[in-house]
Amino acid sequence: MISVKSLAESPNLTSIPASYTFSNYDPTLLDQNQPEVKIPIIDFSLLTSGNPDLRAKVVTELGEACENWGFFIVTNHGVPESLMNSAMDGCGGFFDMSEEEKLEFKGKHVLDPIRCGTSFNALVDEVLYWRDFLKVLVHPQFHFPKRPSGFSEIALEYSKRVRRVVRGILGGISECLGLEEDCIFKSLNLESGLQAFVANLYPPCPQPELAMGMPPHSDHGLLTLLIQNGISGLQIQHNGKWVNVNAIPNSFLVNICDQLEIFSNGKYKSVVHRAVVNKSATRMSLAIANGPSLETVVGPASQLVESHPPAYIGMKYKDYLELQQSSNLNGKSMLDRVRR
Ligand code: SIN
Ligand code: FE2
Repeated sequence: MISVKSLAESPNLTSIPASYTFSNYDPTLLDQNQPEVKIPIIDFSLLTSGNPDLRAKVVTELGEACENWGFFIVTNHGVPESLMNSAMDGCGGFFDMSEEEKLEFKGKHVLDPIRCGTSFNALVDEVLYWRDFLKVLVHPQFHFPKRPSGFSEIALEYSKRVRRVVRGILGGISECLGLEEDCIFKSLNLESGLQAFVANLYPPCPQPELAMGMPPHSDHGLLTLLIQNGISGLQIQHNGKWVNVNAIPNSFLVNICDQLEIFSNGKYKSVVHRAVVNKSATRMSLAIANGPSLETVVGPASQLVESHPPAYIGMKYKDYLELQQSSNLNGKSMLDRVRR
């Protein structure tokens, strides 16, 4: 299957192939006239400031964001802007390599350490998505393509710095749940947690009203931290409506994922999101997905099932993600499989 990038670069492309066309198109997809919504903004520096009052205030805000949105923007996180920009540039450099060079990484399995491809889950997608991707497992073992030169070093540093931010946010979330600060980190074995570096490319699309970048889905891990190249396209489902999400420069877009919904016994919901495409600009996003260790059996935290009976069965994270990737899931149906 050729990449969307080379398809989009074909001369005089004025319409998209039938294989990318959604006939039951959802008109809210490109609705730019939605009312402004105020997405929660979490100032990370207040979590680590050492001032207990400031920390308590931001922990409360974090709890509200997790409970009411499952999604928030994180500012003042300490990851250098230059590193974020270099990571994004590296992704662009990778997508610019020739088809032959990228062919080396044409994997199939969700746990292949380096995998590039197109669409969402090309083996089962009935209509293809207007997206190319590179997915690399960067923790507990670091893998990475050797080209473009310098990209691997940047990705190693970037994923390490992101893990630090994730640990800080999960500490705050543990407290919101009434648990010890280190509870999520320790009980889900984040020391050997699975971390994936996922670069997405959405080339300009001649008929954005008929195509989708990524289908509605929720992420399987704990927390995803996303940045983009200044072009928006992410939408989240909030109170039954699709909401466009725009980043603040130098911030992370963060969403709660399935394993955190399960661990919180349903108090925090894994947010359903999708990506739309546009006619004029190439959009890139870089998502760092952070999960438990693969061998961890994740179920509701024992401290949280005393007042509310467990709402999910426990399942090994590895089994969860293999099952999720092998089926054509719409929205959150994988979570439905572990719901009691
Ligand atoms: C994702 O859901 O992993 C990425 C969505 C986006 O590109 O904004
Ligand atoms: Fe996602």
